[in-house]
Parts: sequence; structure tokens; C-alpha cells
Amino acid sequence: MSVSLKGRTAIVTGAAVGIGNAYARAMAREGCNVAVIDLRAEIADLAGELEKHGVKAYAVQGDVSQPATVRKFVDDVIAKFGGVDILINNAGQCSVSLVEDDLDKSLADYESMVGTNLRGEYLMGRAVIAQLLKQGRGGEIVNIGTDHGVTCGSPNEICPHLSTCPWGDSPRPTGGGTVMDIYDASKYGTYALTFAWSKALKPQNIRVNCMCMGATDSWMIRNFYGDRATPEEVATWMTAENSAQVVVDILKEGPGGRTGETINLCVGRPTVLEPERKPIYVTPESVGYTTRETVDA
Ligand SMILES: NC(=O)c1ccc[n+]([C@@H]2O[C@H](COP(=O)([O-])OP(=O)(O)OC[C@H]3O[C@@H](n4cnc5c(N)ncnc54)[C@H](O)[C@@H]3O)[C@@H](O)[C@H]2O)c1
Repeated sequence: MSVSLKGRTAIVTGAAVGIGNAYARAMAREGCNVAVIDLRAEIADLAGELEKHGVKAYAVQGDVSQPATVRKFVDDVIAKFGGVDILINNAGQCSVSLVEDDLDKSLADYESMVGTNLRGEYLMGRAVIAQLLKQGRGGEIVNIGTDHGVTCGSPNEICPHLSTCPWGDSPRPTGGGTVMDIYDASKYGTYALTFAWSKALKPQNIRVNCMCMGATDSWMIRNFYGDRATPEEVATWMTAENSAQVVVDILKEGPGGRTGETINLCVGRPTVLEPERKPIYVTPESVGYTTRETVDA
């Protein structure tokens, strides 16, 4: 099933450059009114670009890790567009962190990466979820994770093992190696929010999914690698535009579509929406769970 996104209101965080910019443009192309927020001043220019698609747009320079900013932004979006239907939690920070870093650097990394990638996503989610519940017409949340949380990018049974895949037949290890502990910690939190929100909000037809992205050409990845990335390596990176199409495809699944899923986009594989994997939830009923009350009695 493919539903139209026309006339919906979408929020995209971190949309001034990079992947979020492509997401915001894709939402406008699909006919959504789009609200964007970003630390960078150039976010203001994006509203006019988006409006060329015949939709309404609203752009704010602001920090998603700040509760007052998030509160005001979401309230203003609701006031301007009459509600909100889609949240794409994309704003992200990424830099090298080493176990031997001193406490000042470690704290700065924590504030920047956990602050944006986890706290920002959490705050934005809470503000939007309250509105989605009030509206009672379902909704969509897409969180942006990383492929560091998965092995081959897909369960082995559906990985096509392309000859171009840099990991060959051996499952790649999870994590970003030894230089990204706090980035990975912040993004693993993203999976937790995705799973918890998807379960809690399923009865209200609010779907929550997470993009587990591999290397994708953007300001962030070019800044992270600097001169260290060879042209051959850069050529393997995915594009923000292809990633945006995958998000559109997720959203177009509509209320009957997948929820609680980590959608894996990995270098060496086509940047497409993989088939739905039905998450298997362990429920209290399925495991004969004994409640605290029963134990105490
Ligand atoms: N590019 C990759 O290879 C890659 C891989 C895995 C995951 N991701 C994730 O994808 C998302 C987008 O990454 P990107 O590569 O486009 O990064 P980017 O740095 O190119 O763009 C991120 C945008 O978010 C904005 N931003 C950062 N902190 C913010 C804050 N506190 N409040 C508001 N705006 C903020 C930045 O100003 C920027 O415009 C991030 O969550 C990132 O972690 C990227």
C-alpha cells in the first residue's frame, strides 16, 4: 500500500545541510508542509526553497538540545500549520572521542553528541508525541541512527552479499571502532527510543522507525574524515537523496506499515527500503511473566 503524503505537516531537524536537507526537500516534493530547525543560520534560506514546491515552510535557527527552544518551535509549528503529522529526528553531531581524552574534552563530547543525538531527539519526540496523541489521527516518527548498531546491515538471511560489499561474507562487527564511544552510545539510545516508542504508540497508529545509516556523503562525514578518505572510498558513500527516498518509502507505507524497525542502509548495497522484518516482541503474556504484585502476595 502506498499512501499520499500531500497536505501533511512534517518536521525535519538538522536540515540546513547534509542528509536532513535532502529529507526536507523530499518532504516538500511529496506535498508536505515542512518545518525545519537547525543550529546554522543558513536554515533561513531553506524555507523559500521548499515553498517552490507549492507547500508552506517554516525555518528556525535553534538548538534541539534546548527544551525551551523545542517547546516554542513545536508550538509555533502547530499554530502555523494546524498540527503535525511527521517527525524526522535527524539533527546530529559526530566527532572523534578517545578513551584517553581528558575530562574536559570528554564532557564537551558528551554534551555535544548525547546533547543533540539523544537528548535532542528525546525532547523533540516528547513534544511531538503529545500533539500526535491529542490529534488522534496517527503519525510518523523516523529517528536517524547509524549502521554501527547492526552487523552486516541486515540479518544474514536477507543480505544479498553483493560482490561490491566491502565486508565480503564475514559479518562486520558492531560499533564505530575505538574512536566513537560516545557517538555510538548516543545512537544506541536512539534504538531504545525507537523500540519503546513504537510499542507504546502502536495502538494509536503512530509508527516509529529508525534509519541505521552507513557512510553517506554529507558535511559531517567529510569533516570527520578530512583528507583521510581516498577518492575510491568517497565513491562508495551513499547519497543523501537516495536515503531521503527510503524515508519517503517508509512514510508511504501508511498506518499498516512497519513499526519499531531498524532500517539498514549500508555501503555496497543498494540504498533501498529492504523488506519488512516483523519485530518479535516478548510480551508479558508470551513468557508467563510474574508481576511484582503476584510475587509480593
Ligand atoms: N553522514 C553519514 O555517513 C551518517 C552515517 C550514519 C548516521 N548519520 C546521521 O545522520 C544524521 C545527519 O547527518 P549528516 O551526515 O547529514 O550531518 P551534517 O553534519 O552534514 O548535518 C547535520 C545538521 O544537523 C545540524 N545540527 C547539529 N546539531 C544540532 C542541534 N543541536 N540542533 C539543531 N541542529 C543541529 C547541523 O547544523 C547540520 O546542519 C545525523 O544524525 C548523523 O548522526 C550520518
